[in-house]
Amino acid sequence: MCGIVAALAKRNVVPVLLEGLNKLEYRGYDSAGLAYLTEDNSLARLRSVGRVAELAAQAAGKGAAQGIAHTRWATHGVPSERNAHPHISAGLAVVHNGIIENYAEIKQELTGLGYVFTSDTDTEVIAHLVHHLLQSTPDLFEAVRKATARFIGAYAIAVIHEGEQRIVVARHGAPLLLGIGTDGNYAASDASALLQVTRKMVYLEDGDIAEIRQDQVRIVRPDGSAVTRPVHESSLSADAVELGNFRHYMQKEIFEQPQALANTLEMVGGSQTIQPQIFGADASALFARAKSVLILACGTSFHSGLVARYWIEQLVGIPCSVEVASEYRYRMSVHDPEQLVVAISQSGETADTLAAVRYAKERGQHMTLAICNVAESAIVRECALRFLTRAGPEIGVASTKAFTTQLAGLALLTLALAKQQGKLSVQDEQNHLNALRHLPVAVQKVLALEPEIEAWAQHFANKHHALFLGRGHHYPIAMEGALKLKEISYIHAEAYAAGELKHGPLALVDRDMPVISVAPNDMLLEKLKSNLQEVKARGGQLYVFADGDSEVPESEGVHIIRLPEHYGLLSPVLHVVPLQLLSYHVALVKGTDVDKPRNLAKSVTVE
Ligand code: M6R
Repeated sequence: MCGIVAALAKRNVVPVLLEGLNKLEYRGYDSAGLAYLTEDNSLARLRSVGRVAELAAQAAGKGAAQGIAHTRWATHGVPSERNAHPHISAGLAVVHNGIIENYAEIKQELTGLGYVFTSDTDTEVIAHLVHHLLQSTPDLFEAVRKATARFIGAYAIAVIHEGEQRIVVARHGAPLLLGIGTDGNYAASDASALLQVTRKMVYLEDGDIAEIRQDQVRIVRPDGSAVTRPVHESSLSADAVELGNFRHYMQKEIFEQPQALANTLEMVGGSQTIQPQIFGADASALFARAKSVLILACGTSFHSGLVARYWIEQLVGIPCSVEVASEYRYRMSVHDPEQLVVAISQSGETADTLAAVRYAKERGQHMTLAICNVAESAIVRECALRFLTRAGPEIGVASTKAFTTQLAGLALLTLALAKQQGKLSVQDEQNHLNALRHLPVAVQKVLALEPEIEAWAQHFANKHHALFLGRGHHYPIAMEGALKLKEISYIHAEAYAAGELKHGPLALVDRDMPVISVAPNDMLLEKLKSNLQEVKARGGQLYVFADGDSEVPESEGVHIIRLPEHYGLLSPVLHVVPLQLLSYHVALVKGTDVDKPRNLAKSVTVE
């Protein structure tokens, strides 16, 4: 989604703004822009459709001590220069992330007052409204505070005004943080944009309005009362967001999975027992009380939740339901205060997941747990308990290491719940923990299959459709494989529980429809083999990822890649890796923009 960078410092901030935008490119965008105050304190604006590099070319040689910058992911109005941010009203410029839901009503009012709109965006109402309020409240900070009281929806904004040595920012429902530097102060929608100038970050809360000056910042609540927020020292390393020797972030992140898993599982490293406290101080009590589990998430995170359902019901023996957050938040579901609500999110800022957790809480469900990759994110702060996956920054839009580390966190959750509910023997606890500890090494072995998978990718280059099959807790892995393929190669892909094939999708199978199957050596293998026969008998081309001991024979039209031996309950963590690699290599063959697939954003902070 959109990205914001703002800077006011004793240096030329134009390169800082552009470098910040470069770091935010991964969020997904279609146009970029910046506004700054020139030496004579007047406002200047540059905008371009396409890459930040084009904006940088326009900005060459420009200098300023104060400015705001933006990458836009279109919601209201097509991607175009006139819709790109910043938006201006006389000498005032605004950048905005989110959606002002009541913009039409405010626009009508402002049009009546004589304001002329030059874009199709909701953002332009912010600029004109603040400008209008400045006429009766000649203080930028107060005018922004009064304007935010009018907005319904989610936003993070940054505003500059001709002749003023300050930037005013505000947030509600979209991420925004301040960077406290030695030569000035900054703001951004993501810490990675500011690591170039500071590690000291202040995370704004919903409703906060902040004034950034060169030597100080101040924050107030919507009623104008002052508030202090803690300064965090960011532990993100600048290297973590560098590409290094890899061709794409997605490739880098796939290969980082052994380390990401090792980091995530560090707290059970030397231990023979699982401590529920790794989920928070109150976890023991809440886990013992939970009568059922409800998992809320979107996209890839939803798929990790689906795997966890199999684990929780099998090991803990309590019901577990998994819901797409955007559906749950508007559904009159049956609420249960004794249910543990688990929100899964890489970014911790996904608008639908955040809203779904809030909705659950409004309905009296207060036993909430966030499984998340970003420590200070909105979803983490919304939940009573938290487990932080330690995947490191995930830049590629296609989620990979976030998924496998979520699975690691969910496996720990399953064990902790089972233990608190008296369902886990000492021996089983040790066995499961040992398997988890060996997971990074097991994933490393699967990564070694890359050359074989790369060779398969050529077979998919001219295909328009693909089917993915799986059974049991590998059915969600098939779903994740299909999502990866469609997301970055634009090949239409569908996943089916293999037993469903004969109830409809078998009609699609012919030589042009590759069928990719996950075939672990588990209790459903024989059933799966019969399903694969159904495909083969119709002339379908099968691409099977089998365990070494699965005994699925290669034959005409049946291609096999063998993983190491079966890995029990944790097998889904291994089986997703070749599917990630397959989609990556198919995208390479097709020449798509792997890290920034069309139409998609990394962090979906709007509904
Ligand atoms: O940050 P989140 O995990 O909440 O994001 C949820 C989805 O938007 C995300 O997983 C999306 O489906 C990925 N791009 C898939 O690769």
